[in-house]
Amino acid sequence: MERTIVGIDVGTTKVCTLIGEVDKDGQVCVVGVGVAPSRGLTKGVVVNVEEATKSIASSIDKAERISGYRIEAAYLGLAGKHILSVNSKGTVAVGRGERYITEDDVARAIEAAQDLAVQHGREIIHVLPRCYILDGQEGVRDPVGMMGFRLEAAVHIVTGAVPSIRNLVQCVESSHVTVNELVLQPLASAEAVLTLEERETGVALVDAGGGTTDVAILAEGAICHSAVLPVGGNNLTNDIAVGLKTPFEVAEKLKLQYGHALPEMIDPAEMIDVAAFGEAEVATVPRRDLVAVLEARCEELCALVQEEIRRSGYDGLLPAGLVLTGGTAELPGFKELASEVLQMPVRVGRARNVGGLADAVSNPSYATAVGLLQWGLKYGGPEKRTPKREDGRFSELFRRFKEAFRALLPG
Ligand SMILES: Nc1ncnc2c1ncn2[C@@H]1O[C@H](COP(=O)(O)OP(=O)(O)OP(=O)(O)O)[C@@H](O)[C@H]1O
Ligand SMILES: [Mg+2]
Repeated sequence: MERTIVGIDVGTTKVCTLIGEVDKDGQVCVVGVGVAPSRGLTKGVVVNVEEATKSIASSIDKAERISGYRIEAAYLGLAGKHILSVNSKGTVAVGRGERYITEDDVARAIEAAQDLAVQHGREIIHVLPRCYILDGQEGVRDPVGMMGFRLEAAVHIVTGAVPSIRNLVQCVESSHVTVNELVLQPLASAEAVLTLEERETGVALVDAGGGTTDVAILAEGAICHSAVLPVGGNNLTNDIAVGLKTPFEVAEKLKLQYGHALPEMIDPAEMIDVAAFGEAEVATVPRRDLVAVLEARCEELCALVQEEIRRSGYDGLLPAGLVLTGGTAELPGFKELASEVLQMPVRVGRARNVGGLADAVSNPSYATAVGLLQWGLKYGGPEKRTPKREDGRFSELFRRFKEAFRALLPG
């Protein structure tokens, strides 16, 4: 029987469920796509369980009908302002006698690193090894089998608030779907759109969605910084709605049809017939005025991204530049504006290495959902797993660490 992987991306504007079959070459082929408008979520976080549950159920139902599969378990994307990520280090003594480092030593070092970071009321989502330091020698990627006395593990730890996580998991479980694993949305998007070279040389992945803009900085093959910014395409739409005194729905249509991030690209004489889109206090408006509103918000978004790049310590150290994905990456001129503000090369990232219904998921807004399938392919096993709970964290952590570590090795 084919191995299947399911990803559910509960975004602020849409819920997307993808069902993938793993083909004989180890590539994921999308065989089911279910997209439903998202309700009950604000900035990536569930605020109305009943509404969110309905949206998720509808998306699952659609994907099941298209594929003919019944979904039992899925990888679930996670975002929101409650997400915190830190880099931490843990040190262990390997022993005085001459012996080689074992997986157990590595796991102890990882455990020591995560002991420092977890706060009350928060749950660990990821513990991702970045590199190891063995007797002062930095940059060791796989210490297993090496000889040494003092092993230090540098890890990237992502935590989230327990109530926010539980609410989301509950909404999915209401559809009788078990959560295999929670995956931070920008990490899933990174799996889908980045090349191996970009991850090695240093790159910023920016998923600009509807409610949030997610940032992940990767270098030397590992994640070194991640953040969820509570600003996205909905803010652009809101700015238009406020500026033109139109309902949000009208502003969204105007944005999709006339939106641009660079006013200098727009003919000053071009007028938009706002009244044609529905009720509004103004009948016509110069398109350039609308675009100037979007430019201001896009610049603000780029400044926030810049701040995260600085915070990561990789400012000026990302030769592969920035890969922009998420629905808002489709805004014409945004890529060019980001490149100008951030002073780095920018490309729009779409899901790569995916077969089957690939056309249906080629839009940047599907990067996270496709990435969840690729995360499952890379780190998951064929067995169905139950969601991680706070208790039993250590054994779960060790198992996941081993998988993550194996997969992060080059080659
Ligand atoms: N052509 C376009 N021009 C401008 N904005 C666009 C375009 N296409 C989509 N968008 C915007 O992209 C956003 C939706 O993106 P996406 O589907 O990635 O969000 P999401 O995953 O639902 O939300 P989030 O990840 O923030 O929780 C909306 O704000 C939408 O207006
Ligand atoms: Mg999203």
